[in-house]
Amino acid sequence: MKYIFAIIGSVVVAVSLVALGFNIRQVDQERATLTTNLEQRASLLADSLKESVEPYYANSIQSSFQASLQKVVNKFANRERLAGIALYDNKGILLATSSGLPKAIIENTKIVAEAMDSNTSNNDFFDTEGEDRYVHVDPLHNDESIVGALMVVQNAGYINARIGEIWRGNLLRLLIQVIIFSITIFIILRFFVFRQVIRFVESVKKIRMGEGKESFKDEGKYSFFTPLAKEITHITKSLSQARLSAQEEARMRLEKLDSPWTSERLSEFIKATLKERPIFVVSNREPYEHYTNSKGEVSYRVPAGGIVTAIEPVMVACKGTWIAWGSGNADKTVVDKDNKIKVPPHEPKYTLKRVWLSDEEVTGYYNGFSNEAMYPLCLMAHTRPLFRKENWQEYKKVNGIFAKNVLAEIRDVQNPLVLIQDYHLALLPQIIKKSRPDAQIGIFWHVPWPSPEAFSVCPWRKEILQGMLGADIVGFHIQQFCNNFINTVGKEMESRCDLEQFSVTYQNHTSHIKSFPIGIAFTGGNDDVTFDPNVSKNLLEKLGIHTKHIGLGVDRLDYTKGLLERFKALEFFFDTYPTYKNNFTFLQIASPSRESVPKYKQFNADVTKEVERINTKFKTKNWQPIVLLKEYHSHEELDPLFKIANVCMVTSLHDGMNLVAKEYIAARDKEDGVLILSQFAGAVRDLKGALIINPYSAEETSEAINTALNMALLEQQRRMKKMRESIKNYNIYRWSAEFIKAVTSLS
Ligand code: G6P
Repeated sequence: MKYIFAIIGSVVVAVSLVALGFNIRQVDQERATLTTNLEQRASLLADSLKESVEPYYANSIQSSFQASLQKVVNKFANRERLAGIALYDNKGILLATSSGLPKAIIENTKIVAEAMDSNTSNNDFFDTEGEDRYVHVDPLHNDESIVGALMVVQNAGYINARIGEIWRGNLLRLLIQVIIFSITIFIILRFFVFRQVIRFVESVKKIRMGEGKESFKDEGKYSFFTPLAKEITHITKSLSQARLSAQEEARMRLEKLDSPWTSERLSEFIKATLKERPIFVVSNREPYEHYTNSKGEVSYRVPAGGIVTAIEPVMVACKGTWIAWGSGNADKTVVDKDNKIKVPPHEPKYTLKRVWLSDEEVTGYYNGFSNEAMYPLCLMAHTRPLFRKENWQEYKKVNGIFAKNVLAEIRDVQNPLVLIQDYHLALLPQIIKKSRPDAQIGIFWHVPWPSPEAFSVCPWRKEILQGMLGADIVGFHIQQFCNNFINTVGKEMESRCDLEQFSVTYQNHTSHIKSFPIGIAFTGGNDDVTFDPNVSKNLLEKLGIHTKHIGLGVDRLDYTKGLLERFKALEFFFDTYPTYKNNFTFLQIASPSRESVPKYKQFNADVTKEVERINTKFKTKNWQPIVLLKEYHSHEELDPLFKIANVCMVTSLHDGMNLVAKEYIAARDKEDGVLILSQFAGAVRDLKGALIINPYSAEETSEAINTALNMALLEQQRRMKKMRESIKNYNIYRWSAEFIKAVTSLS
């Protein structure tokens, strides 16, 4: 709609400008004609008056001289548009005047004197007492000598009145034209062009998604888009052939695990492995959150966090159903009667089924037990877990709600494949297995698993472990977490742990514990051939960053991400290397997270305070060391930032994997740039080309920043190449293929 208004606006402006131009011309011409007429009339009148009064001047010594002049003046004075007449002697002294002439005019002896001095007519316009008047003065003669002057004053107000009339008339005409134009353009665009465009786009979309035929059925119906429709028909034919050969190639590569995994290869793998069996993914966080924006319209966003980054491309490739908590305030308005919606919204590929939770359930299960107990329990970042019985009750209840939803979905499916995500749903595997022993269940833990000692502080540790052991596969990012888990089970449960198979048998059910390092949807290509470097420049300009070197951090505002430690290291860096003042800026993107949890609120405030303190300490007139943006940024917004950052810092105090590190590497298609990576992030196992640091050591981190900023390009490329190779080989398609293969290959 805004385009229609923009087009209408432009036409209105153009038409108005043209009309205005013509109007100004018309007004000028009219003014010139009226003025000439007025001048001619005044001059004619003056000539005839002159003939009548000059004889009196010849006898000016007579006592009746002035009275005679007054008589002539009175006789002429009531002509149409004539404001008055005045007569002067040769010294400019007023001899006779008609009544009603303003003093300012008759006493204006300058115009009279000029006429007599130059011995020619003199005239001018005067605006007195709010009225326009035209004054014409002629010298009077007796023989050759000048004996006085005659002033004829005409009313000129009618000229402006006429001009005003022209303006009003033309503006009214313009207004009517603008209204008619606008309505006509609106109808043409809205009901002819846009409708045609929308139909056209929908057809193209269907073809692209392989839903429709590969060509436009009736190219003629697209009126002026017909030539384009023909062209697209050719392109789509080639596209569908390319699709077929990609599928064929993917099929051929299925068994060769060393060749890179792609979305197509994963789809083929799933078709071959699952045949027609659908996939069900369950997680707390949903991939799309619908909300009402400031204009009152329903919009959507992709929540921040690794789980969505990782699982979304898998679902796009595999189709299937993703069951998750509907956390957006407009989520309910867009689902169907089964609480389902097809996503991604711009190109639907799979089904999202939303689970509704009450405020009380969210408080106890999500804020309370998941984020205040389980999360700090698993991540060793020196935040004590808070175990509250009422939260645990809600956690159990909500796991039950999720289970009910999953069971309803898999009711008619034989051997359903259920992939459960993360610490919010630890009890789900057991509940589902109990009702559906034929289900193949995997649970993947996206955060670390702590040591048995650390885990032992949880009052409900046995129930949690029992819940997880309902799964056939329990997956972690790295072997260390698998070891911790099996040791925890060995310590807490009456079970049989097989360290050779890496499996646990508990109550006659065996769960295999396996590491699956998660990745991102990177297949090695240069995904951004169209990237425009000006975008980055403009971005920096907008942020007021004018430095040579840029450092970047992208994190949720979470105390495990080591933000305060990172800022301390930056402070240490600027203290140690003051030459970097004005030359290095660190941009921190921090998306707000879990804002209802007190610990996160406090952390958010601490981050702002620390940045302010450091900025106050070092800032100069046009520079500050840290730019903090506490806003969610989409993948599209982050990509140009990743591309301009000379160095990216991931300084988590503890992290399951950390996909930001991998996204930075994926964005570096020129193979330059340096990643500084915490030794406590799971990603450290895969990303050997990073500068590895202990985030608790400001000195070490500061040294790494210095090394990064001075690293030779060749060295940067050597390291980056290695890391890009690694994230390509262990991408998300491979992760899910291996996870699905592990779950389905168990009998
Ligand atoms: C971590 C968890 C995810 C979670 C994400 C974002 O990465 O492992 O399961 O989705 O944080 O947190 P949130 O609480 O917003 O879902």
